[in-house]
Amino acid sequence: MRSPISIAALLLQTSSVIASRSAYEEYLSGVPSEKECERPNISFAPNQPWAPIAPSPQRHKTCQVESHDDMKTDDSGYILDALHECNNGGRVLFPAGKTFKQIYQNVTTFFQLGGTDVNVYGGGMLDGNGQVWYNFVANSINVVFDSLDISGYSQSKNEAKNTDGWDLYRTSNAGIQNSVVNNGDDCVSFKPNATEILVQNMHCNGSHGISVGSLGQYVGEVDIVQKILVDTIAMSNASDGARIKVWPGSSAALSGDLQGGGGSGRVRNIVYRNYEIMNVDYAIEVTQCYGQDDITLCNEYP
Ligand SMILES: *[C@@H]1O[C@H](CO)[C@@H](O)[C@H](O)[C@H]1NC(C)=O
Ligand SMILES: *[C@@H]1O[C@H](CO)[C@@H](O)[C@H](O)[C@H]1NC(C)=O
Ligand SMILES: *[C@@H]1O[C@H](CO)[C@@H](O)[C@H](O)[C@H]1NC(C)=O
Ligand SMILES: *[C@@H]1O[C@H](CO)[C@@H](O)[C@H](O)[C@H]1NC(C)=O
Ligand SMILES: *[C@@H]1O[C@H](CO)[C@@H](O)[C@H](O)[C@H]1NC(C)=O
Repeated sequence: MRSPISIAALLLQTSSVIASRSAYEEYLSGVPSEKECERPNISFAPNQPWAPIAPSPQRHKTCQVESHDDMKTDDSGYILDALHECNNGGRVLFPAGKTFKQIYQNVTTFFQLGGTDVNVYGGGMLDGNGQVWYNFVANSINVVFDSLDISGYSQSKNEAKNTDGWDLYRTSNAGIQNSVVNNGDDCVSFKPNATEILVQNMHCNGSHGISVGSLGQYVGEVDIVQKILVDTIAMSNASDGARIKVWPGSSAALSGDLQGGGGSGRVRNIVYRNYEIMNVDYAIEVTQCYGQDDITLCNEYP
């Protein structure tokens, strides 16, 4: 068994902070009562994680987060108070039926979690109400995300862009399972140095598929993605099913926001199985010259 119990870093980024009361009310009606919010005993099926996840000791102290509950006043102070008070072995409780407003620089909301042996569970909704948001798991080992549904659709006239469901970066032994992702970019994406990752029993709708990469974007960087098992997936309304995106062997600028190439790396031991695709443009796609449409350059620097 691995030594650290679990280290989670979950970053949820949103732009704009206009929250709507009705969206919350609709969701709150489905939030489980507190009795159901015991820490779940998660089991894995059909596969076990690459390495066992050590059990986490019970907590004996509880700190309840206060809230203005008016959808306007920043509640970050209350959240921090509870986190500080219950640090090192406590339980921070966001009471059911309340809203917690978070304001960061008036334009962007970050929800960043880190630490050792962190468990987040219960019901509720993180409403980004923005056009750019994703769950970014970085520098983490032994993490599990179970039964987390993600909806990355635009509810305004602006199209939702870069709404990746899950991005895993510099992370090993992570499991993502039993989830529905409704979005417009990668459903799950294995970024540089994602290793020993299990993704199973997922429904992805409207995405760019489950992809490795992009890799090799930066000169001098070594990007490794290996030991990935993706099992029992329903993929619908997507551009791709399984995909690998690798930048060309030389650095080149294509468009303003997509430039790179020339990095090195390795992709090894990637298994996709039991994959059901419905209305998917490309079941399997390997892009070896990502971000570059000059074929001569691609052939010259594969
Ligand atoms: C969790 O479930 C497993 C089997 O699914 C069981 O062996 C274990 O005792 C359970 N742990 C707790 C704390 O209930
Ligand atoms: C936040 O943005 C709103 C709308 O643009 C503005 O009215 C308000 O003054 C800003 N608040 C702060 C603290 O900058
Ligand atoms: C899948 O996405 C489409 C929009 O592209 C939506 O109409 C449909 O309800 C979604 N399906 C599920 C099961 O959520
Ligand atoms: C990935 O891991 C390799 C080998 O440990 C290391 O050389 C490289 O710097 C890492 N890359 C990133 C992006 O962290
Ligand atoms: C695919 O999208 C269409 C609408 O664009 C939706 O009706 C359908 O339910 C989606 N399929 C699935 C399996 O979600």
